[in-house]
Amino acid sequence: MENEKGESSSTFKMDNSAQERSLPYVPDCYAVPPSYEPRDALDSNSEIVPTIDISRLKSSDDERRGVIQELSSACQRFGFFQIVNHGINQNILDDALEVAHGFFELPAKEKKKFMSNDVYAPVRYTTSIKDGLDKIQFWRIFLKHYAHPLHRWIHLWPQNPPEYREKMGKFCEEVRSLSLEIMGAITESLGLGRDNLSSRMDKNGMQVMAVNCYPPCPEPTAALGLPPHSDYSCITILLQNLTGLEIFHPSAHGGSGRWVLVPEVKGVLKVHIGDHVEVLSNGLYKSVIHKVTLNEEKTRISLASLHSLGMDDKMSVPYQLVNNENPARYRESSFNDFLDFLVKNDISQGEGSLTLLESRTDRVKKKGLIE
Ligand code: OGA
Ligand code: NI
Repeated sequence: MENEKGESSSTFKMDNSAQERSLPYVPDCYAVPPSYEPRDALDSNSEIVPTIDISRLKSSDDERRGVIQELSSACQRFGFFQIVNHGINQNILDDALEVAHGFFELPAKEKKKFMSNDVYAPVRYTTSIKDGLDKIQFWRIFLKHYAHPLHRWIHLWPQNPPEYREKMGKFCEEVRSLSLEIMGAITESLGLGRDNLSSRMDKNGMQVMAVNCYPPCPEPTAALGLPPHSDYSCITILLQNLTGLEIFHPSAHGGSGRWVLVPEVKGVLKVHIGDHVEVLSNGLYKSVIHKVTLNEEKTRISLASLHSLGMDDKMSVPYQLVNNENPARYRESSFNDFLDFLVKNDISQGEGSLTLLESRTDRVKKKGLIE
């Protein structure tokens, strides 16, 4: 035990992390800092988390206006909503989760082929956030790969499980067309019109899939799957097999805010507002702060599909939303700027601290979104 204690104070390199080795205890380097408190979640309450029937976007103008109002309210209050009747077949969702799980079950040798700490790599497999490089470790293993345009990237994806490319590819394509529909509704809700961004996203927009695996954790409250953060995307669409995702509801409890455990209902997809829609709305919509908690018995799989403009395409506050009383509050930035930020910063500490929940301005400042 002495030896193990010694080992527990250092960080682990990938392929040797506690979660990959199924250690029966949580080493110190996974300890959740007190600044991440409060850790208590509200009861899983589907009433709290907005759920939108987006099939109505394709109905009459009146129906569409109604959905857009719901969406606008969810984006302002939570930066998050769930969608039902999204049109993606349940088999496609189940198949994608199955091949993702299958990948993580492969022998280490097979997965190692994709190991990389290069955040610019179009396909990479690693642990925590940036593998042994960050001070605090997280109980996560993940595969990240580009997904649009599919023909450009799919040949780099895992060939094992044998159906990985086909089934994950199908899911990515469906989720991508859904993302364009939702982005159209978001720009419309901001008074910018339905096609404001869709042509830019359609041509050279990025889709990055984060295929996440959170193995069972022997002391689930002693570690986190992911620290509090917001996504550097326009929107992220997420599918999960189990609960574990918690979102921060800033106006709860008289403004002090509260974590809400997002319920899991089969077939329902989750939509996160990312930093770039916060910029696009000049701060009217807030990117959602979220984290992942752990489970003692089961392996949790999530597929997070991040949708952005092109790699070097800058997002800026649109002129239509700026006037003398309401100046642009953000500076322009691209997806590539974020990757540069990720290389230079240890987000296991900075972005995750609750200070950032208290001061949104500080958080976006740290990311370089404002001066
Ligand atoms: C992410 C993320 C949440 C989850 O990959 O950015 O927040 O539930 N994932 O795995
Ligand atoms: Ni996220």
